[in-house]
Amino acid sequence: MAADGLAKGVEVTLPDAAATDRLGRWLGARLRAGDAVGLVGDLGAGKTSLVRGMAHGLGLDDPDAISSPTYLLVIEHAGPVRLLHADAYLPAKLQGFLADGGLEYLFEPAAVAVVEWADRICNLMPAKTLWVDVAVVPNGGRRAVLRPPAGGGFPWLANLPKMF
Ligand SMILES: Nc1ncnc2c1ncn2[C@@H]1O[C@H](COP(=O)(O)OP(=O)(O)OP(=O)(O)O)[C@@H](O)[C@H]1O
Ligand SMILES: [Mg+2]
Repeated sequence: MAADGLAKGVEVTLPDAAATDRLGRWLGARLRAGDAVGLVGDLGAGKTSLVRGMAHGLGLDDPDAISSPTYLLVIEHAGPVRLLHADAYLPAKLQGFLADGGLEYLFEPAAVAVVEWADRICNLMPAKTLWVDVAVVPNGGRRAVLRPPAGGGFPWLANLPKMF
């Protein structure tokens, strides 16, 4: 599990899709160049919705252009800070790319990197990754658990609302 060795997570309730968007915006407004976010969650959990919200929060030029990068490996979005949006649903493809120099490209200091299905390449994710685990709740909403790296970072998580 991606959470091995990581600090205790903070849990957030997301009753509907708008709440997922709000959490994404909240995160995007706080992320900085060089940050890496690893998204974990089943098919349809809300990972891409969360990235779209982050794109709004980051102030990207075209936040609604966010879509699933499954077959493109990494999609680059322009803005005040560039967003590199990757997907490890097919881990072998992304692993091959990352082994061929892609690690420096994806986790470059001047951009924010967000990886969907990041648990599938957890050994390649930076040690200082913020992990976000999204799960479907039986009533139809979602629950997200955010875990900062064990070594510290993302101090603003202390101000995370319990519900969005
Ligand atoms: N908190 C929520 N409550 C209910 N529905 C939600 C919530 N958050 C997102 N959704 C809905 O879940 C659906 C799937 O969202 P999304 O495509 O973002 O998931 P995903 O994890 O990226 O899926 P995939 O793994 O297939 O790419 C969308 O219809 C979205 O509106
Ligand atoms: Mg998706």
